[in-house]
Amino acid sequence: MDIKIYKYDAVIVGAGLAGLAAAKELTEAGKKTAVITKLHPLRSHSGAAQGGINAALGKDDSTELHEFDTVKGSDYLADQDAVELMCSKAPETIRWAERMGAVFSRNEEGDIAIRPFGGQSKPRACYAKDRTGLTLLQTIYEQAFRAGIEVFDEWYAGDLLYKDGKAYGVVAYNIRDSKEMAIFNAKVTMFATGGHARAYRFNSNAHANTGDALSIVARHGLPLEDMEFVQFHPSGLGGSGILISEAARGEGGRLYNSEGERFMSKYAPNAMELASRDVVSRAIMEEVRQGKGVGKDKQSVNIDLTHLDPEIILTRLPELRELAIAFQGQDMLKEPIHISATAHYSMGGIPVNINCQVRKNPNELVEGFYAAGECSCVSVHGANRLGANSLLEALFFGRHAGENMIKALDSGIELKEATEDDAKRFIEEFNRIKTSNGKERVAKLREELQNGMTADAGVFRSKESLERQLKLIDELLERYRDIRIDDKSDTFNTDLQEALELGHMLEFSKFIVVGALAREESRGGHYREDFPKRDDERFLKHTYAYMDKDYNISIEWGDVVLGKFEPMERKY
Ligand code: FUM
Repeated sequence: MDIKIYKYDAVIVGAGLAGLAAAKELTEAGKKTAVITKLHPLRSHSGAAQGGINAALGKDDSTELHEFDTVKGSDYLADQDAVELMCSKAPETIRWAERMGAVFSRNEEGDIAIRPFGGQSKPRACYAKDRTGLTLLQTIYEQAFRAGIEVFDEWYAGDLLYKDGKAYGVVAYNIRDSKEMAIFNAKVTMFATGGHARAYRFNSNAHANTGDALSIVARHGLPLEDMEFVQFHPSGLGGSGILISEAARGEGGRLYNSEGERFMSKYAPNAMELASRDVVSRAIMEEVRQGKGVGKDKQSVNIDLTHLDPEIILTRLPELRELAIAFQGQDMLKEPIHISATAHYSMGGIPVNINCQVRKNPNELVEGFYAAGECSCVSVHGANRLGANSLLEALFFGRHAGENMIKALDSGIELKEATEDDAKRFIEEFNRIKTSNGKERVAKLREELQNGMTADAGVFRSKESLERQLKLIDELLERYRDIRIDDKSDTFNTDLQEALELGHMLEFSKFIVVGALAREESRGGHYREDFPKRDDERFLKHTYAYMDKDYNISIEWGDVVLGKFEPMERKY
């Protein structure tokens, strides 16, 4: 295969909010920057975030209160220096987005409108109807495009160039014509590839959210942090998991079980439906377990918005209404709709320091390598993320990563020259899969993985369920060696791409399960039925997990950055 080698100052993989914000900064600073993305940027999953982006803009709100809510929401696992940085910069981030052209919804005084979200003591989710992520994505894409970013869209990044503690680009192929493979050799490299919830059967994520970057990093012996913490959003459409924004509860939606009981009074008597997501998701699944579910399979509960002024639904939640009508035939103006907890977000990921530089271990950094957004773990979300802190994290830390990469470039970071040999590892993987003629089907293996993750590494976990899932993943990894893909062509070969993605899903899923087994406590989104209490003495720690060539995973523990908020029992 003929491999081109392109040279850049910066290469960014992923074109959601974090990647585009970084690319815009770099390009405006005159740095030659390439953005590689397996989708068109405007199809990135940032566009699916509906309900809002947090900033303490309310008259009786403060950035310190935002910090406190974020740390409490994280079940005290968040690094408080990173939380302080993000929350203190949130108002400025919103103003910046507004200056770039983002059109936020307004209140009657003409200020940016804010709505309540779960786990927050004040309304602070700034929104654009229920299309906040899409509005921001379009705005930042326009501005990055205007700055002159170079985008390689529908290119699939298959490997990181990494040697001796330094990253120097990626290997990627053109999905339109997979004969075209290239090395993007760069002084600084950034991963901003988003989430991984496609590893679960019920999830709110885009088809593309297969977490490729996580195992690409892990295959180089680099750690992944806190992977056991997966967020289940309380309101996915029953059966499909498609997101019904927390804005539905923020605007006043109420949850009922099949007996017509507003059950949140049992689980969070003060906050009710606006407790943090981990609490509400567990409550919903507990009701379902007790046989009080609704819907054909009794796996959902009802969210009722019929008591609201229809104008609120029509003007603030129009997309949610459309989704529920299109996918479930239920009109929220007239009747309650069925929802259930859906895998939504990864709190863990590629460990980075407060400047978004990737960690080689808890104490050392990788030279020239950065990450931001959902694929990274900075860690502002700890064990559970507050709704509307994800757009904030992506936008703020995306820009911040861009600024830090500019500093690294200005201080003279050198290019480590790539050679064709650097592509060898990925070419071998690519050719093995493209020519595979075994007896296992990718879709079947993926389905088994997803079913197992939802059943055994989902909202409720135990040693027994996690060991079952670990055994399954090991079997699936073995069977993955014997897959077959039928499409041997080079043009838009989605068979090939899905097979590559499945390899990644199997590997990072093993991190989730091994981390969940090691963490013998319950904290945030990680709930162990056999260890139902939080255990600060043993586990007020970050998990750093490393994979060897045989997919064995070992764990070391890293310190949490504590600060002004002492760990306390959470009550909502
Ligand atoms: O519910 C939502 O609108 C999702 C937002 C988020 O995950 O931050």
